[in-house]
Amino acid sequence: MSYDVVVIGSGPGGYVCAIKAAQLGLKTAIVEKRPTHGGTCVNVGCIPSKALLHASEAFAHAGHVFADLGIDVGKPKLDLKQMLAHKTRTVEQNTKGLDFLMKKNKIDVLRGTGKVMGKGKVSVAGEDGKSSDVETKNIVIATGSDVAGIPGVDVEFDEKVVVSSTGALEFEKVPGHLVVVGGGVIGLELGSVWARLGAKVTVVEFLDTILGGMDGEIAKQFQRMLGKQGLEFKLGAKVTAVKKAGKGASITFEPVKGGDAETIEADAVLVATGRRPFTEGLGLEEAGVELDDRGRVATDGHCRTNVEGIYAIGDVIAGPMLAHKAEDEGVAVAEIIAGQAGHVNYDVIPSVVYTDPEVASVGKTEEELKKAGVDYKAGKFPFSANGRARAMLATDGFVKVLADARTDRVLGVHILGFGAGEMIHEAAVLMEFGGSSEDLARTCHAHPTMSEAVKEAALATFANPIHM
Ligand code: NAI
Repeated sequence: MSYDVVVIGSGPGGYVCAIKAAQLGLKTAIVEKRPTHGGTCVNVGCIPSKALLHASEAFAHAGHVFADLGIDVGKPKLDLKQMLAHKTRTVEQNTKGLDFLMKKNKIDVLRGTGKVMGKGKVSVAGEDGKSSDVETKNIVIATGSDVAGIPGVDVEFDEKVVVSSTGALEFEKVPGHLVVVGGGVIGLELGSVWARLGAKVTVVEFLDTILGGMDGEIAKQFQRMLGKQGLEFKLGAKVTAVKKAGKGASITFEPVKGGDAETIEADAVLVATGRRPFTEGLGLEEAGVELDDRGRVATDGHCRTNVEGIYAIGDVIAGPMLAHKAEDEGVAVAEIIAGQAGHVNYDVIPSVVYTDPEVASVGKTEEELKKAGVDYKAGKFPFSANGRARAMLATDGFVKVLADARTDRVLGVHILGFGAGEMIHEAAVLMEFGGSSEDLARTCHAHPTMSEAVKEAALATFANPIHM
């Protein structure tokens, strides 16, 4: 067989790239070793976690918020089996949807493990051990990432007691005490799920803050909120051992600044200390494709590797490990292969933590602007002063807009609050067009909406907000 494009890996980067390439008239195949498309995100990541986040949030609201709204449902009873079935159904709907999209766009699906055999050639090894070669003008590596584990610590994942994000999506019963190693996105999202369902959750984090890299003020307030929800934090603590102990696990950590080690026993431990690019067995070395110093496929700003006709996108290259970043790179690469001007604006990639409340941000944090010596102004507005938020009992959190002091151009927007993950996109569109905080503040926002807080925060960068 001979193709214009062969994409290896059908996660959000790979499948989007294949669809776009096919839409642009390129003869396209996609290689996938899992029985279903969608990669980590659809099968064991973004999608199933959101199903559980939504369900557990509804459970928590039924327990705490409904009564204040005048709804008496008594004490809600958890049916974990049904909740997990909802998660499984959600995943199935998405993977079936992807099968349909592959067929609709006439993309050949090559089942098996793909290997680059040099420029223009990919071999696909099926489960039966048989390999077949396909010829292609272009190869796109979209193999994603895998659980990184804890550097220097031997962690044996059994996905029942010592779990990665995959096992944390399918505990058969709510763990009495769940220790989460890593206060990053996965740890906080999945930690919140099980805390809402009744687990005692202790988060052990190396840094002095949760969500390292997020705006510091947002992270601090967010941690306080999670604390009120019952999550316990051990910050500045380095985990040095994770072991199975009896029916549970023991986790040892020591203060980063030095001091005595501490060991806690738990019913389960979720290790969420990051992910690493997946490049094993891909034949990259033999094909002469260079990796960077962190083991990622090295690319130029347009996802081209050092070998002509071989591209790489998503978690396997530099940049944030986010599905939507991979998707945009997939589109850009398909366009470049088709002779168009594909491009990703890496300065405007939103990120969302799907907790309750959500945390969303786009652009620079205050810490980054300070470090770069940029003269900026900040405007803030709390949801407690927003009418819609009061009506929904969603007054926790605030919006922060950061704008260049000289030009008024918006450089970063950070939102902590209900619906932050949806609201952030007005900031992303504004920033994509190089908009100013005055542009945002003068754009009519429907009343009453949570989004009015974004408008007011923009106004607060250069004038007094109206409702405060
Ligand atoms: P992460 O990089 O976000 O967080 C890992 C945390 O573990 C860091 O805060 C780090 O300081 C800490 N850590 C590392 N070694 C440690 C040790 N020995 N002891 C204690 N703490 C230690 O990684 P995470 O949460 O595993 O997520 C992996 C990737 O998946 C990230 O790139 C993330 O952005 C992405 N992701 C994004 C989601 C979203 O956008 N909503 C959801 C889930 C994952």
